[in-house]
Amino acid sequence: MHLYIHIPFCESKCYYCSFTSLKKKNYEDSYFNALKKDLDFQLNFFNIKKKSIKTVFIGGGTPSIIQAKYYEEIFKILEPFLAKNSENTCEANPNSTSLEWLKEMKNFGLNRISFGAQSFHPEKLKFLGRIHSQDMIFKVLENANKANFKNINLDLIYDTKMDNKKMLEFELFNLKKIKPLITHLSAYNLSIEPKTIFAKKESFKKNAPYLMNFFIKNIKKLGFFQYEISNFAKNKTYICKHNLAYWQGKAYIGCGLSAIGFLKNQRFYTIKNLKDYIANPTFRDIEKLNPQDLNLEYLFLGLRSCVGLNEKKLDNTTKEKAFFLTKKRKLIYKNGIFYNTNYLLSDEIALYLS
Ligand SMILES: C[S@@+](CC[C@H](N)C(=O)[O-])C[C@H]1O[C@@H](n2cnc3c(N)ncnc32)[C@H](O)[C@@H]1O
Ligand code: SF4
Repeated sequence: MHLYIHIPFCESKCYYCSFTSLKKKNYEDSYFNALKKDLDFQLNFFNIKKKSIKTVFIGGGTPSIIQAKYYEEIFKILEPFLAKNSENTCEANPNSTSLEWLKEMKNFGLNRISFGAQSFHPEKLKFLGRIHSQDMIFKVLENANKANFKNINLDLIYDTKMDNKKMLEFELFNLKKIKPLITHLSAYNLSIEPKTIFAKKESFKKNAPYLMNFFIKNIKKLGFFQYEISNFAKNKTYICKHNLAYWQGKAYIGCGLSAIGFLKNQRFYTIKNLKDYIANPTFRDIEKLNPQDLNLEYLFLGLRSCVGLNEKKLDNTTKEKAFFLTKKRKLIYKNGIFYNTNYLLSDEIALYLS
């Protein structure tokens, strides 16, 4: 089993972001009380056995603006359920993560940390609505190493209006500098999400496939291997097991405001309004997925990542089309699995196969 926990508070709202994030305003006590009830209920409801949770991902929002003591209580609840060597990740922002916080979180059981840098360039950071500087990124990475984190991710965003070859070379130059301090990189192609500031104005996205290819090619040249459209690891040990579980269609629990859980053909949604969630944290809206939805999702997720498509899960027509694409070198067939050779083409291929 896998577990996602949402912390919905941020210091400010970035212009591209549609994740549930609200200004903090002293809601910690009531939110974490609700979260604990939610977690207890879900562990019971899913009949979670001792030592069976393989990954925990605390995402946001900005988990690093919440004092570590609140997470101590969460880890206390989780401790008996965590598998040996479970991967326990938390997202954090460069401007709000202190060395002390990192050390405390490490003590509670966190063993992977994911920093949202988005860019190293001052103008691009401003353009994205970020409130940290390049120096803060370097500092926080040094601190995470000092706190003895052995698995550290950095998030970047590219294909924004500001990204040209010079800008991407600047990002790569800085990536090279911090490479010894990280084990994993997530480089996200900007998506324009409804109801964000970017959705309201003129196009903020570059939409330049040659620059996307340029960036990815050079990230690989730095020594990262790509295992999903946006994800790169220094080696196989550092593949994010939590994300891999999503792409493999594994079951997961989602706790916290607007979190999502998944089991077989059902998605579970928590309440999206903070006060309503605090009043009723165990409520779930259930969406039943039909076989067509599940199949399409299987194709998209498999083709975007190293998971691939198992021939046993494909009907005959889809399998024939997939073999045709191996002749065109778009897919590789190995031990009964079709693998995509260029993740940037995954959506097109999924639509062709479906
Ligand atoms: C849950 S979000 C943010 C976590 C953390 N608060 C932060 O700001 O770094 C996780 C990552 O998703 C990426 N992201 C969020 N919105 C995006 C968008 N519209 N397009 C591309 N990437 C996005 C960012 O790289 C971000 O670090
Ligand atoms: S990107 Fe991170 S810090 Fe910015 S609004 Fe979204 S969750 Fe908050």
